[in-house]
Amino acid sequence: MDTAVEVRELVIRRGGREVLHGISAQIQRGVITGLLGPSGSGKTTMMRAIVGVQVVRSGRVTVLGRPAGSPALRRTIGYLTQSPSVYADLTVRENVRYFASLYGIASDDADQTIRDVGLADQARQLVGTLSGGQHSRASLACALVSRPELLVLDEPTVGQDPVLRDELWKRFRQLADDGATLLVSSHVMDEANRCDRLLLIREGEIIADDTPAAVKAAAGTDDLDQAFLTLVRNRTEEGS
Ligand SMILES: Nc1ncnc2c1ncn2[C@@H]1O[C@H](COP(=O)(O)OP(=O)(O)OP(=O)(O)O)[C@@H](O)[C@H]1O
Ligand SMILES: [Mg+2]
Repeated sequence: MDTAVEVRELVIRRGGREVLHGISAQIQRGVITGLLGPSGSGKTTMMRAIVGVQVVRSGRVTVLGRPAGSPALRRTIGYLTQSPSVYADLTVRENVRYFASLYGIASDDADQTIRDVGLADQARQLVGTLSGGQHSRASLACALVSRPELLVLDEPTVGQDPVLRDELWKRFRQLADDGATLLVSSHVMDEANRCDRLLLIREGEIIADDTPAAVKAAAGTDDLDQAFLTLVRNRTEEGS
């Protein structure tokens, strides 16, 4: 197996409380891995550790063969944070071209990325005047524009309508087909079905690491929502 990210025995404390309790996982290259779990389970924290912006209590995170946070990784990782991180007083195009320029990417490629996220009509609009869904797609364009080898996308489809969500997932698939590694967090199980692998996280522990089909088979159901609930319940019973 060709591993892009290896997480070993990762322990993280935030606000004086342990929020990741020694998790281990491997994220394969060139595929889409979904990171699923309830609100507060530790998805964003795990992503922050992979991107290298999170203080780690113990354990190890290796990204593309280097320790997470290594300067050499900066250009190879695209990170979409959960809250929009674009400049409100610039237009969509100015924002995306700015991020492109940091990586020596041509403006034509920036314009293509704007089209890819469905913002062609808003390219000249100030980001501060966009709708919520448009605003997060502007952030997504900035994460995608450098064509990074590893994309860490924290809830990239929140606030998007079903048509746009479908288009964005097709785009993610295309990027994986072209060789990129994607880690995508979500609460939505129909999106989980579109991933090659799933990491299910609950209260700072990984409770499943498998393909969607295997997760469903293990829980004895065809419904991923149901499978997740079953795994959570089994785990709770084991612990009691
Ligand atoms: N800056 C912080 N200070 C203290 N505690 C924090 C901080 N950020 C997150 N936490 C806590 O860490 C835990 C994990 O949070 P995290 O943001 O990783 O969850 P999440 O799975 O991404 O949730 P959501 O689905 O709501 O985005 C939560 O209990 C949260 O309250
Ligand atoms: Mg989060």
